Amino acid sequence: MDRELPRSKTLSQIARSTGAIPTRISEIAKGVDLLVVAIPMKSVAALPKDLLSGLPATSPVIDTANYYPLRDGKILEIEGGMIESEWVSHMLGRPVIKAFNNIVADSLVHRSFPKGEKNRIALPVSGNDARSKQIVIDLLDKMGFDAVDAGPLSESWRYQPGTPAYCPDPTIRQLPLLLRKAKRDKASGNRDQAAKIMAKLPPDFSPQELVRVARLSAGLDTFKPRSWIAALRLGYTALRAA
Ligand SMILES: NC(=O)c1ccc[n+]([C@@H]2O[C@H](COP(=O)([O-])OP(=O)(O)OC[C@H]3O[C@@H](n4cnc5c(N)ncnc54)[C@H](OP(=O)(O)O)[C@@H]3O)[C@@H](O)[C@H]2O)c1
Repeated sequence: MDRELPRSKTLSQIARSTGAIPTRISEIAKGVDLLVVAIPMKSVAALPKDLLSGLPATSPVIDTANYYPLRDGKILEIEGGMIESEWVSHMLGRPVIKAFNNIVADSLVHRSFPKGEKNRIALPVSGNDARSKQIVIDLLDKMGFDAVDAGPLSESWRYQPGTPAYCPDPTIRQLPLLLRKAKRDKASGNRDQAAKIMAKLPPDFSPQELVRVARLSAGLDTFKPRSWIAALRLGYTALRAA
């Protein structure tokens, strides 16, 4: 598959505002220092098989994907117990580093902070290659986020949808406990229930309200009224949607 050079208005606007350079998918990996795969999970299987052939062996690949069967359809290997990022790695034919999947885009853009700031968000990074992981940890620091080494890729389920570490914008003091609290047998049920509610949310339910609800569900901010108001709004939506 070799998609035409994109010319949509949206893409050219993004290019203008970020300095990103749109290119053909067949050119995307050639000679780059780092590749970030940020497409819906269902599209990963459709990527060209030789996509990464031009990628230098030392360049890490970051997988940002989350598996939502309601959106992506059922992926049998994952339903059978394969870890999501291990499936992505298998599809790409390359080791991957799992990062950025558990932060909403709004926080990624608007909630970066200088090192040492008390509310600086920490993100988990997992993978099997220590050097690649360190490159991603350094990148996060430059972008304004702390990082926690969350172990090998086999542990990346600890911050997939349906776990306490999924999108609560934790600090570096809070994140390790949230990763430890993850329960694998509960995650997919929580994820599917959340996906059903999310599909019914009113357009004015903001990304930061979602973060407040995620924090409350993770046991954070239990004394903050704004968090409870967001949770009540979400609960009301869920009841109406039922
Ligand atoms: N959005 C978030 O806040 C967020 C946060 C954390 C993790 N994630 C995860 O990151 C992944 C991407 O999320 P997103 O919200 O950015 O998704 P998205 O907006 O639906 O899609 C991102 C891009 O993927 C491209 N794409 C889709 N299929 C493709 C294919 N077969 N080949 C090449 N490009 C393809 C689309 O390009 P075209 O428009 O040209 O088709 C689109 O620009 C998902 O797994 C998501 O769960 C998202």
